[in-house]
Amino acid sequence: MTKDRWKLAIIGLGLGLATLAAEAGQCGAPAPGATPEVTTTLAEPSPTPSPVVAALGTAVSGTPAAGGIPAPYAGRRNPFTLDDPSAINEGALVYYGNCQFCHGSKGKGDGPSATGLVPPPTNLTVLEYLFANQPDREFWIVSEGIPGTAMPGFKDRLTEEQRWLALTYEWNLAKQANRQ
Ligand code: HEC
Repeated sequence: MTKDRWKLAIIGLGLGLATLAAEAGQCGAPAPGATPEVTTTLAEPSPTPSPVVAALGTAVSGTPAAGGIPAPYAGRRNPFTLDDPSAINEGALVYYGNCQFCHGSKGKGDGPSATGLVPPPTNLTVLEYLFANQPDREFWIVSEGIPGTAMPGFKDRLTEEQRWLALTYEWNLAKQANRQ
């Protein structure tokens, strides 16, 4: 009989009870095991490239391919595994020799040469998702530079391997910053 009375009560309370249940659900949900979920999904919310980068499709010479990335770069994949310690170590050498003056020792866009640059060097720590998921786009930018900004093209100064290593290290800087 108690069950029947509860059924009646539920029908009687209608929305009120449903609301209570929903609230209880919300309160209970985030507590256990939520932190690992957040950590895993950290890379997901895709950071938006700067407006200058977004406009690159037409700014850089070359045949625009899918996504605006020119043919020599479209579809390229990083030959190094992003979390390979030796690639990260070698990438650090390239990064500190060529990139940190502008992008900063931790990749936050605050290097000693960044002062007064318009636009300022990108805070690379927001690009973790792009380094991992759009490597061809980043490889293109590092190779050709960004017209109208201080970002130089490195295709004549660094080998392809060195450019990929620098990007691998930048991914690592971003990952470290995002896991703090
Ligand atoms: C002289 C300063 C300078 C140096 C040196 C420099 N950069 Fe940049 N970098 C910039 C600026 C400025 C931007 C563009 C900011 C914008 O477009 O808003 C930029 C943008 C970028 C981006 C952003 C791409 C995106 O998707 O938004 C990447 C990646 C990058 N640089 C990598 C590198 C790497 C790798 C090196 C070294 C091999 C390097 N940069 C050296 C100034 C520099």
